[in-house]
Amino acid sequence: MTTQDHAIIAAEVAQLYRAHLGVGRARIGEMVGGQVEVESEGAWITTSDGERYFNAGGYGVFIMGSRHPRVLAEVERQLHTHPVGSRMFLEPAAARAAQLLTSVTPPGLDRVHFSGSGAEATEAAIKIARLSGHHRLISMHGGYHGKTIGALSVTAKELYQKPFQPLLPEVTHIPYDDTTALAAELERYGETACVIVEPVQGEAGVIIPAGGYLSTVRALCTEYGAMLVVDEIQTGLGRLGAWWGCDQEQVVPDILLSGKALGGGIMPVAATIATSESFALLERDPFLHTSTFSAAPLAMAAVSGAIAAIEEDDLTGRAAVLGLELATEIEAIAFRHFGSRVREVRARGLLIGIELTEPGMAGALLIDLVNNNVIANFSLNSTTVLRLTPPAIMTPDDVEFLLDRFERAARTTAEYFLER
Ligand SMILES: Cc1ncc(COP(=O)(O)O)c(C=O)c1O
Repeated sequence: MTTQDHAIIAAEVAQLYRAHLGVGRARIGEMVGGQVEVESEGAWITTSDGERYFNAGGYGVFIMGSRHPRVLAEVERQLHTHPVGSRMFLEPAAARAAQLLTSVTPPGLDRVHFSGSGAEATEAAIKIARLSGHHRLISMHGGYHGKTIGALSVTAKELYQKPFQPLLPEVTHIPYDDTTALAAELERYGETACVIVEPVQGEAGVIIPAGGYLSTVRALCTEYGAMLVVDEIQTGLGRLGAWWGCDQEQVVPDILLSGKALGGGIMPVAATIATSESFALLERDPFLHTSTFSAAPLAMAAVSGAIAAIEEDDLTGRAAVLGLELATEIEAIAFRHFGSRVREVRARGLLIGIELTEPGMAGALLIDLVNNNVIANFSLNSTTVLRLTPPAIMTPDDVEFLLDRFERAARTTAEYFLER
């Protein structure tokens, strides 16, 4: 394809976005260089002009990179046999995916409701909580749980909530990593409460609580008879260097949420995984909470492939080791170029956040990274944090590439800001 062909494709796609998918989204595409992505494999994304980008973005989806062979094999087999079910008969791909998923979740979480997005997984959790009388929802400032009306009600960010009010009633937001505030809230609401929390807040900009936070939250919920939902849609499946953030503190929630990496970088799929006690009222009537494509065989094949890939490639162990290595290097580079304008570099496993002091700096660094062939993440609930979520399948050459390009991008951004 010639440069001219590429320019035509990119212009056409941008025009179609403007016409049908939204001018705002089209504008963001332009801001980050106007490229059009057409292919992906492993840690790399290719644009229509043949350029390759290292994918340290994707909002946490790509722990096993793109088109991991194990996931691809499962999905291809399913695609050519039985991609979507009748919903009349029982179906083996769903049964197997549920069994595999619950074999890697904390003990006692053995019931699953599958859905298509993280927000839907949150919705199901809220409905399960309400069924058992836990109608007072308590979530954390900066927490992110999705943007459907129920999920948005617990996504404590005014920017996203305000235009859609009124949202669900009986929701309170308290500071993250503050067990005193939680205890006070639970004192008021007791058994009617349902607490929803992330082990590390992703969209808030990789906010890591003090050690023991999650286990204290568990203990408080148990003490007051509240339900505990731990949202691991971003942190689960190896991202933090363990299967779940819960495992790092031996916490067993009443409900665990999974998504993003659950579809193996191939299918959109999420899950609400519950104890049999929490699930009991929902499963009594199988039509109480349904969705046409819930547990569709093609998505279920991706789940089984994803879990097998994480296990067989030891992606949890790799994420822990690679995360330590990368975080140390990235912190050194950030301080070398931004000096006192680095507020903090925070990381657990391969969830890495670089917080800068000046407004606009993180956004500029993101664009400079793209100019250096690296894709990173915005943080939806923070404008000062750039997030890196590289895959755990990275090779030593990939690590070297990422660090080299991060250094170049940081130098450019810093020069621009320091000159002003
Ligand atoms: C912790 C967490 N929960 C829920 C969601 C919502 O997932 P989705 O965007 O698939 O609806 C996200 C998305 O970023 C998330 O990070």
